[in-house]
Amino acid sequence: MKVLTVCLGNICRSPLAEGILAAKAKSAHLNWYVDSAGTSGWHEGEKADSRSREIAKERGLDIEYQRSRKFVVADFDQFDLILVMDSSNYQNVIKLARSDEDRDKVKILLNYSFPRQNRAVPDPYYEGGFGHVYDLIDAACDKVIEQEA
Ligand code: 4NP
Repeated sequence: MKVLTVCLGNICRSPLAEGILAAKAKSAHLNWYVDSAGTSGWHEGEKADSRSREIAKERGLDIEYQRSRKFVVADFDQFDLILVMDSSNYQNVIKLARSDEDRDKVKILLNYSFPRQNRAVPDPYYEGGFGHVYDLIDAACDKVIEQEA
């Protein structure tokens, strides 16, 4: 299974989702490939936001290796599942879909925890709340493993 996590900047939320999901998949002895991307290219090549790296470190997760990149249409071919953080990310990714097959790969992450509610992982870039964001993503990733493994 190849999973791509997606947010706007690929520096706050989706890097955490990538790291958390990859760690859980590894613990579950699943041979998953996990990557992340942003719908904007605003932070291309940058490490994750220092606040995301800090909360990850506090929780025992290393995301220092990650570098931001932009979501590209070819990601629909590379990945089986595309997990977006909010409905704006959803719209931005769906806009690029070429087929129902592409569209079917795109899921709102928190629908794994709160089915059909289309809840957002709040964007912490301006507002903060990285601990809460981590907890929301962590709980949803447990469900992703349960349902997709
Ligand atoms: P992310 O957060 O989408 O969770 O990575 C953001 C990062 C950067 C910006 C917005 C959101 N920005 O406006 O640069």
